[in-house]
Amino acid sequence: MRHFPFFSLLLFFCLGAQANADGGKKKEALDSQHRYTRMKKDQRNLQTKFRLYTDPAEEGCLIVFNQMETLDRCNFNSSVPLVMIVHGWSVDGMLESWVWKMAATLKSKHKEINVMIADWLSFAHQHYPIAVQNTRNIGQDIAGFLEWLEDSIQFSRSDVHLIGYSLGAHVSGFAGSYISGTNKIGRITGLDPAGPLFEGMSPTDRLSPDDANFVDAIHTFTKQHMGLSVGIEQPVAHFDFYPNGGTFQPGCHIMHVYNHIAQYGITGITQTVKCAHERSVHLFIDSLLHDDKQSMAYWCNDIHKFDKGMCLSCRKNRCNTLGYHIRKERLQKSRRLFLKTRANMPFKVYHYQFKIHFINEIQEKQVEPTFTVSLIGTKEDVENLPITLVEGITGNKTYSFLITLDIDIGELMMIKFKWEGTAVWENLWDRVQTIIPWSKGIYRPGLIVKTIRVKAGETQQKMTFCSQSIDNVHLHPSQEKTFVRCENRPRRLKRKFR
Ligand SMILES: *[C@@H]1O[C@H](CO)[C@@H](O)[C@H](O)[C@H]1NC(C)=O
Ligand SMILES: *[C@@H]1O[C@H](CO)[C@@H](O)[C@H](O)[C@H]1NC(C)=O
Repeated sequence: MRHFPFFSLLLFFCLGAQANADGGKKKEALDSQHRYTRMKKDQRNLQTKFRLYTDPAEEGCLIVFNQMETLDRCNFNSSVPLVMIVHGWSVDGMLESWVWKMAATLKSKHKEINVMIADWLSFAHQHYPIAVQNTRNIGQDIAGFLEWLEDSIQFSRSDVHLIGYSLGAHVSGFAGSYISGTNKIGRITGLDPAGPLFEGMSPTDRLSPDDANFVDAIHTFTKQHMGLSVGIEQPVAHFDFYPNGGTFQPGCHIMHVYNHIAQYGITGITQTVKCAHERSVHLFIDSLLHDDKQSMAYWCNDIHKFDKGMCLSCRKNRCNTLGYHIRKERLQKSRRLFLKTRANMPFKVYHYQFKIHFINEIQEKQVEPTFTVSLIGTKEDVENLPITLVEGITGNKTYSFLITLDIDIGELMMIKFKWEGTAVWENLWDRVQTIIPWSKGIYRPGLIVKTIRVKAGETQQKMTFCSQSIDNVHLHPSQEKTFVRCENRPRRLKRKFR
C-alpha cells in the first residue's frame, strides 16, 4: 500500500533528525541511564514526574516520591482507584494533546478515581532506540512509586490501572513486572503498543499478560513495511483488539497524507502517522464518552474469516467490549478480537453475518456478484447497501459475508435484495432468446435465492428470511426481491446456523 513509504520516511526522518541534532545528547542519556540504575531505590529521585490531574487542568499537581505531604496537597484520594496514563515516544518533547483529553474524559465520567499522568518526557524525547532502553527504568520508577503508595498510605496496587500508549504500553508492562512481591497491578491497557524493537521479543521484554491481573490491548497500526511497523502485531494481552484488522484505520488514508502535507508541511506527515497509531487512544476515549455505543469485538483466527462474517459468536468469551468497560475475564491464552469501526467518533458499528444460499441456473456463465440490500428494522431502515462477493457465484452454494451498519436499526424485519444487473448477462439472455425464439415468455433461468440467514453480532440474534412470493423465486438482473422473517416455519427452525 502506498502510504507506507511515507511512514518509513517519517520514521527515518525523525530518527535521523534527532540523531543529528542530539548527537551529544545520546551519550549523555546513556550515561545518565547507567548512573540511574546503579542507584538504590530508596536513594534515588525518580526521574518520572507524577502529575495528578486536577480540574481545571494546568500541568497537573506534582506528587513527589517519598514526600507524603504532596499527596495531601494535591488531594490524592486514597479511597478511590488510580488510573495512570503513560505517554509514548516523543518527537517534540511535549505532552500530546490526547493525554489531557484522556485525563479529562476519565475524570468527567468517573468522579471517583484519581487520574495521574506519568510524565517521562525527557527520557522519551530521545533517539528512538534510546527511548526504548529507557522504558525499563521508567517502568521501575512507576513500580517504585506504586510500592511507596502502598507502604505509606496502604494504597493497593490492585486498584491501579495503567493506560500506556505506544512505548508507554511497554513502560506499563515493565512497571507491572518490576513491582516487588507476588501481587500484581490491577489492570494494564496497551494502546497500540510500540512495535519496533519489541515485536517478537520474549514476554519479559515487552508488555505481556503476566504484567497485571488483567491486560488488554488495542492494535491500530501494525502494517509492516520494510520490517518495521509502528504498532506491535503479536498479541500482548489477555484480550487483543484489532479494529479493522489492526493494520490501518479508516479515515487515515493516503489522500489524507497529501492533504496533511499540503496543509501542515512536513509536520503533516507526523499527523498522518499519528492518525492510525493514535486511533487506539480515541477508541478508548470513545468507550468512556459513549456509554450507549460500546464497540463489540469478536474472536477470530484471521481477518479474512472475520470479513466473511463468520466470527460473530459470543459463546464462551468469544466476544468482548472494547475499551474501559471491557469484561475482565482472564483466559489462559491471548484472544485476538476483531471489529469494524467508523472513521469518526462514535466509532461503533453493528455487525451482521448474512448467509445466502444461491442456486445459479445459468451454468455457462459465472454470475457477477454485485448486489445491494435494503434492511428494514424496527427502529430504522438502511437502503441500498452495496455487497460485492469476493468470488463469483457458481452452481448451488451458500455464501457468507459481513455487513456493518453505522446505525442501530433495531430488530431486522425485512430485507430487500437486489441484483445490480450487468449488461454482459443481459446480452447473454438476449442471445439465448435469439437462438431459441420460442424461449420468450417461458422459463427463464436466473438466480434462485430461497432463504437469507442473518446473525446480528451485537444482539446475537439469529433470523431466517424467506422470499415473500413462494412461486416467483427467480432473481434476474436489476430485479429486487423482498424477504420476510420466516423462523416460525418448523422446517427452517431445525436448520443449524454456523
Ligand atoms: C474520597 O472519595 C470518597 C469516595 O468517593 C469520598 O467519600 C471522600 O469524601 C473523598 N475524600 C476526599 C478527601 O476527597
Ligand atoms: C442444490 O444442492 C442441494 C444439496 O446440496 C440439492 O438437494 C439440490 O437439489 C440442489 N439444487 C439444484 C437446483 O441443483
